[in-house]
Amino acid sequence: MPQKIAAGNWKMNGTQANLAEIQTIAEAAQDIHSLAIICPPAHLLHSAASLPGPLAIGGQNCHHAPSGAFTGDISAEQLADCGASYVILGHSERREGYGESDSLVRDKARAALNSGLTPIICLGESQEQRVGGRAIEVVLAQLTGSLPDDAEVIIAYEPIWAIGTGLVPNVAEIAEVHDALRAQLHAIFAKGQDISILYGGSVKPSNAQEIFAITNVNGALVGGASLKAEDFLPIMRSLAES
Ligand code: PGA
Repeated sequence: MPQKIAAGNWKMNGTQANLAEIQTIAEAAQDIHSLAIICPPAHLLHSAASLPGPLAIGGQNCHHAPSGAFTGDISAEQLADCGASYVILGHSERREGYGESDSLVRDKARAALNSGLTPIICLGESQEQRVGGRAIEVVLAQLTGSLPDDAEVIIAYEPIWAIGTGLVPNVAEIAEVHDALRAQLHAIFAKGQDISILYGGSVKPSNAQEIFAITNVNGALVGGASLKAEDFLPIMRSLAES
């Protein structure tokens, strides 16, 4: 059975002052029976990981090399050293903004696994690809190209046009992609049916219940609505009750 996971992607938001939100989430997670992960910006990782409560912490990116002359980058080992146990890889903001290819994402995923981190590998089509009827084809190609050999990963399907826009695919569209991802994971890995497939893109307290009711949706990767405990906690609760 895939694990139910509510993951928050803080992106480049937050300072020390915002640790109180993570603290509230960590304390409440005690009574909510689904895995909660917060991926804060790198400078908050260590403090966030030191908070009491059953909250896992993740990075938002890592370099594919273990160490070396890569100014401004962070390695998987360094994330783990801060207390992270997950890392988001191949987010569309990195694929688009920094030209990250499927093979680079795969190399980063291998580096993450080597340091004991579980990669959260993001996939998703553009608006143009969706309108052109190519969403499934694009997402499956990204999956094949980005997956490391090891099955210890989490997949996040995030249509680019749904991220931060308030637009969400309809239930049938989400189901179609998640079913296709599940079938492909099953075909590649003996344990493919156990890999969690998260949906991401404008998940809010108001739409979480409907999204979590979809077969093969095992949780969410949440951006904006993960920044405040009052928004993220209802999403965590909807997931636990789904
Ligand atoms: P959003 O972002 O929830 O703000 O749409 C999701 C993401 O980019 O992971």
